[in-house]
Amino acid sequence: MKINVLFNHNNADELYFTKKTTVVIDILRASSTVVNAIQNDAKEIIPVATVEFAVKVSGGMFGGQTLVGGERNTRKVEGFALGNSPLEYVRDIVAGKTIILYTTNGSKAIVKAKFSENLFVCSFLNLAAIVNHLNELNKDFEILCAGKANTFSLEDTVCAGKLISELEKTREDLELTDSAHGSIAMNKVFGKNILKMLKESDHGKVLIENGFEDDLKFCSKLNYSHIIPYFTGNAIKLYERLVPQSGAEIAAS
Ligand code: MLT
Repeated sequence: MKINVLFNHNNADELYFTKKTTVVIDILRASSTVVNAIQNDAKEIIPVATVEFAVKVSGGMFGGQTLVGGERNTRKVEGFALGNSPLEYVRDIVAGKTIILYTTNGSKAIVKAKFSENLFVCSFLNLAAIVNHLNELNKDFEILCAGKANTFSLEDTVCAGKLISELEKTREDLELTDSAHGSIAMNKVFGKNILKMLKESDHGKVLIENGFEDDLKFCSKLNYSHIIPYFTGNAIKLYERLVPQSGAEIAAS
């Protein structure tokens, strides 16, 4: 099983992902938000790469059943119903809803990997579920870290390293690229205390300054959820909801 890590979505070309299995990570906060929304029974999340497209997509959907969420500079975009704090995505608000999500890096990373054959969204919250699934799937895969600006994010890279380290415990056939080895090393140094690492990260500090310290606590919860968010068609859905339907829904969407 070959594993590669991309440290930043800006450096990747969307055609690179064609027919690949890809795991997108944006710990602070888009992938943590996606996991919590799906955990709380959101019907689906449509990631978008621009605010304008978020507004356009929401215009063509049923009011009441659709919410637009996301952030600019960590804060809720004016006119959106929700920001990008995973703690906002509670059951009472998101259950049964379609959520259109725009974020500075995370939603763009998911859109960037849209041509993947399999596309999963991973955070510390659902790490074990993703590891188990990748193990069963038994395919080479890419980890696409959202990153920040044009560089890597400590928290995304540590999560990538933890994912690979967990797989290494059960398999001896891993073929790792330099970036995959580097991610494992980052996890060894910074991954023992996830909350401390998040607080010391560049983006963690910005979030604390902006009043989102509780988000760091939430995003640090390892294996809080067992769900697998899966991108199909143009939306992220719960993987288990798709599987029992003999592929019909997957093909139709
Ligand atoms: C991003 O996509 O860059 C993040 O999720 C930003 C944030 O919400 O803090």
